[in-house]
Amino acid sequence: MTRLKLKSSAKRALGIAVVVLLFLSIGLYSFIKIKSEKDYEKTYDYKLSTKGYNENDINLLKENYKDKEINYILEQDKNDIYTNILKDKMFIYNNFYDYLDYYSNNSTLSVREIVEKVNTKTNNAYYENSEQADTSKKELMLVNKYYYLDESYTPENIVSIPTTYAWGNFGDQQVTQSTYDAFLNLWNASHEAGFYLMVNSSYRTFEKQQSVYDEYKKARGTEYADSIAARPGYSEHQTGYSIDIFEKGYSKSNFSETDSYKWLLENAHNYGFILRYPEDKVDITGYDFESWHFRYVGVEAATYIYENNITFDEYYAYFVK
Ligand code: DAL
Ligand code: ZN
Repeated sequence: MTRLKLKSSAKRALGIAVVVLLFLSIGLYSFIKIKSEKDYEKTYDYKLSTKGYNENDINLLKENYKDKEINYILEQDKNDIYTNILKDKMFIYNNFYDYLDYYSNNSTLSVREIVEKVNTKTNNAYYENSEQADTSKKELMLVNKYYYLDESYTPENIVSIPTTYAWGNFGDQQVTQSTYDAFLNLWNASHEAGFYLMVNSSYRTFEKQQSVYDEYKKARGTEYADSIAARPGYSEHQTGYSIDIFEKGYSKSNFSETDSYKWLLENAHNYGFILRYPEDKVDITGYDFESWHFRYVGVEAATYIYENNITFDEYYAYFVK
């Protein structure tokens, strides 16, 4: 009797224990599940997905932006601009808010145009907030409508171009030694291809640039002068890395129609030169097309600029600055 009683109360205790354990397990399971759901809701994956971004977008955003930008994106309506600017090969992280600012006022522009404009500072008016050029970058220094040289700046290692290759008297046309060495290689290659190139303008002092600019201004006003000549201090002719070249017998008005110009377009980069003010980049460079103005930047930069159809201004922002 007693043994039987004992047996059944043990059974009951066991039953109760199982039930309690079961409830405890369910409770624990639910607790963990709710907690992990709550934790997930705190992640960027969850927050961005509720905004409508897909998995690829989310990964891209997380890989490229820090908390500040992601939180900013989360505060805004879903917009593909945040991922699209990242896909541009010249995207610069520090320009994030400037891209968005410019996009908000110019939403019909392509992403490439937005990135290009902001990278080159051409989303600002010319000469606005201009800063001193970093001459320590040597052949990669940028001088344009936003970067200027002091009146006293003179390039180091200036040499004269012999009159075989340059107009005027010996001493009239000067460039840096590195530009001259590269120019000789370019000249020889172009000569082998059947052309005779002549340098028409090269290193110009601040004062010389002043007179060049003033002449255009006097003749046709400020707007015209600004489209064709740099204001003193803002000309890369003052760096000693620029040359204006024509084939013998041609001038500004017809050089772009020559085969020698076409040859330069396709080959100059192999010798470290770029066409500095191309026809399709007037909005970026701020100068009318100049088929004659070539700038020495070294083979690596010149090749990248040529292959990617960008300006030196943008190359500088992305790779040099
Ligand atoms: N013509 C170029 C822009 C200069 O004056 O430097
Ligand atoms: Zn020039």
